[in-house]
Amino acid sequence: MNIIEIKNLKKDYPLGKTIVPALRGVDLEVAEGEFMSIIGPSGSGKTTLLNVIGCIDQATAGSVKIAGSEITALDDRAVTDIRLHKIGFIFQTFNLIPVLDVLENIEFPLLLMKRPAAEARKRAEKLAAEVGLSEYVRHRPAELSGGQRQRVAIARALVTGPDIVLADEPTANLDSVTGASILELMREMNEVEKTTFVFSTHDAAVLKYARRIVRIKDGLIEKEPVAA
Ligand SMILES: Nc1ncnc2c1ncn2[C@@H]1O[C@H](COP(=O)(O)OP(=O)(O)O)[C@@H](O)[C@H]1O
Ligand SMILES: [Mg+2]
Repeated sequence: MNIIEIKNLKKDYPLGKTIVPALRGVDLEVAEGEFMSIIGPSGSGKTTLLNVIGCIDQATAGSVKIAGSEITALDDRAVTDIRLHKIGFIFQTFNLIPVLDVLENIEFPLLLMKRPAAEARKRAEKLAAEVGLSEYVRHRPAELSGGQRQRVAIARALVTGPDIVLADEPTANLDSVTGASILELMREMNEVEKTTFVFSTHDAAVLKYARRIVRIKDGLIEKEPVAA
């Protein structure tokens, strides 16, 4: 089954009196359980595409189906619901909450979902262990390395048991060794949790971790599949 189905997706950004066509008719299908990468140079539309899939930004035209739901036709409440329940997002700059410790950051989405505190705590502890941070659960983000921060972000993205994890250049702010370990962890979590992962990159060195690669250029996905 396809967990993501995108047809002729267009996204224009207004810029003064002109418009910037960030996506110009993207077609993409992602099967359940895939671990795939979108590669393209800076400005090619990677962030825009992930933000539209992740319901952070809205399409200008075209169709985007997430787990069978046409998200372009849903109202704000339904979209928020999909974003919270079906999608986990990992950002390039981690986006952790500085005043919260590791466990509190990881459990945060569960509290937004109004899950009981004790259950949220237990689940957060399990995820912290899976990403190798059991000894750091009381640390705040400022007390962690970049790689550890990204591990927190991965745990937070997975804590709700989403269908899809989207990661926008998750290794761009890490050195290459740490970046490689983050991709290995993501791939391991893809296997353990059976969650679909889609991550973007402009760095060809990280591609060896992807099971499938698509290339994006000037807001369009190249047709030919690329061997992973
Ligand atoms: N909020 C915005 N307003 C205007 N233009 C934007 C905005 N966000 C992105 N763009 C433009 O859309 C294009 C795609 O950007 P983006 O999706 O960020 O690419 P990438 O993530 O591959 O670097 C670029 O030309 C960029 O300048
Ligand atoms: Mg980007």
